[in-house]
Amino acid sequence: MNEKQRLATTLVNPSDKKSEKDYSKYFERVYIPPSLKDAKKRGKEEVKYHKDFVIPEHLKGMGEGRKFYIRTYGCQMNEHDTEVMAGIFMQLGYKPTDSTEDADVILLNTCAIRENAENKVFGEIGHLKPLKMEKPDLILGVCGCMSQEESVVNKILKQYQYVDLIFGTHNIHRLPHLLNEAYMSKEMVVEVWSKEGDVIENLPKVRKGNIKAWVNIMYGCDKFCTYCIVPYTRGKERSRRPEDIIQEVRHLAAQGYKEITLLGQNVNAYGKDFDDIKYGLGDLMDELRKIDIARIRFTTSHPKDFDDRLIEVLAKGGNLVDHIHLPVQSGSSEILKLMARKYTREQYLELVQKIKKAIPNVSLTTDIIVGFPNETDEQFEETLSLYREVGFDSAYTFIYSPREGTPAAKMKDNVPMEVKKERLQRLNALVNEISAQKMKEYEGKVVEVLVEGESKNNPDILAGYTRKNKLVNFKGPKSAIGQLVKVKITKAKTWTLDGEMVEEQIGVTL
Ligand code: SAH
Ligand code: SF4
Ligand code: F3S
Repeated sequence: MNEKQRLATTLVNPSDKKSEKDYSKYFERVYIPPSLKDAKKRGKEEVKYHKDFVIPEHLKGMGEGRKFYIRTYGCQMNEHDTEVMAGIFMQLGYKPTDSTEDADVILLNTCAIRENAENKVFGEIGHLKPLKMEKPDLILGVCGCMSQEESVVNKILKQYQYVDLIFGTHNIHRLPHLLNEAYMSKEMVVEVWSKEGDVIENLPKVRKGNIKAWVNIMYGCDKFCTYCIVPYTRGKERSRRPEDIIQEVRHLAAQGYKEITLLGQNVNAYGKDFDDIKYGLGDLMDELRKIDIARIRFTTSHPKDFDDRLIEVLAKGGNLVDHIHLPVQSGSSEILKLMARKYTREQYLELVQKIKKAIPNVSLTTDIIVGFPNETDEQFEETLSLYREVGFDSAYTFIYSPREGTPAAKMKDNVPMEVKKERLQRLNALVNEISAQKMKEYEGKVVEVLVEGESKNNPDILAGYTRKNKLVNFKGPKSAIGQLVKVKITKAKTWTLDGEMVEEQIGVTL
């Protein structure tokens, strides 16, 4: 960490003479842009655990009479970061609003995973220009994974100069200071740390809803799949301590939450970074299953690190659900090698067999990329045949998108876009076909549904999810919202199920 970064992490109190001097020396303009070179590093630097998040005295009440709005793009990790930022805003005295016109601060929490994700954000920054021109006091901020990219920050500096604030994924806890800087500075405040990352505990959170909750178990990713930007935007793999996770889940159970999703980019690597204890995801799940909460899920699994201990624990069932999201990316061993996924088609299929043997009722879902550089028709066919062989319940499918700075972006690509699109269509047709088949099997069966609320299209219909994460629409009393109920499936559609409630359950059944 250089002097400027060190100072940036220490409290700068403008009313304090000494720090005012530091301030003017180093902060005529807060400008710490991202560095891809630093983000690539995986040093031995120890992960620091911080438990001391406090809002400094002079910033308390900063949000009185002001409103915030956060728009979230990307994965659950980003959704959860938004919950943390909302928590910080609330502690500062801001009130939430769901209208951009009404807001005094607008944050775009961005995703960098594919080019179209980025284009959407640039479009949105453009749309917000008239509002910013109309309300010069409005703070317009960009945070999340895109902010960690040098090219993005440079583009904003050049083309979207009305943006007030850019910060990344490692310094969310600095939000109070950064807002303060943005209010005081006429220039764009940029503070992005391209470090490996720390673990910050006890950050405030305002969770979306009171039925399901996300719990981070680890941050970052060290897998460096050749196509993927995440290891650069989220830093190195670092696990939260088991006791902190267990305490958070217990607390959520006590508050009445019914479902927990454990989050990490590669949750199967959980605990690998501990040097004082031998403790993995299986051990953690084995402790969490004893907590009185109806359902526990986790995402995302990497096949390489999915070990026997975890399978053995998942087979115990109970509140550990029988659904596993296990991204395969491709069915061709050659493509998997180019992707640096570190497993072959055969090893993936072996793992699936092992899981199915231990958890016969398991449902598997996956992620697939088509049109990776130089993917041949035969290699793509291998993806289709693997999909059939495993019999996935569903899949997220993507056309490969080159990300600047990743090894795959330097590979020559001889697959024309029309071919990529056609492969995607063929894959999606298969995904739909198998999904429809699997859904059909539900007709006439009774499933357990965690009721989340009224259906989006019809307030007379309730909607909720099964343990395998299938959306069920059914008629039932409003009192069932937030409860686990039994629903008989009357009709299966490709992606959802229709049914009738057969019995209301009081309390939590495992
Ligand atoms: N950590 C998770 C996935 C995170 S990103 C895992 O390893 O499974 C979610 C999905 O986006 C990935 O599984 C992959 O299928 C897709 N993806 C990632 N980078 C991509 C790229 N450059 N182009 C297209 N799809 C990509
Ligand atoms: Fe990206 Fe691979 Fe890490 Fe998943 S495991 S976040 S695909 S680098
Ligand atoms: Fe996107 Fe970052 Fe998640 S790139 S998918 S928001 S980790």
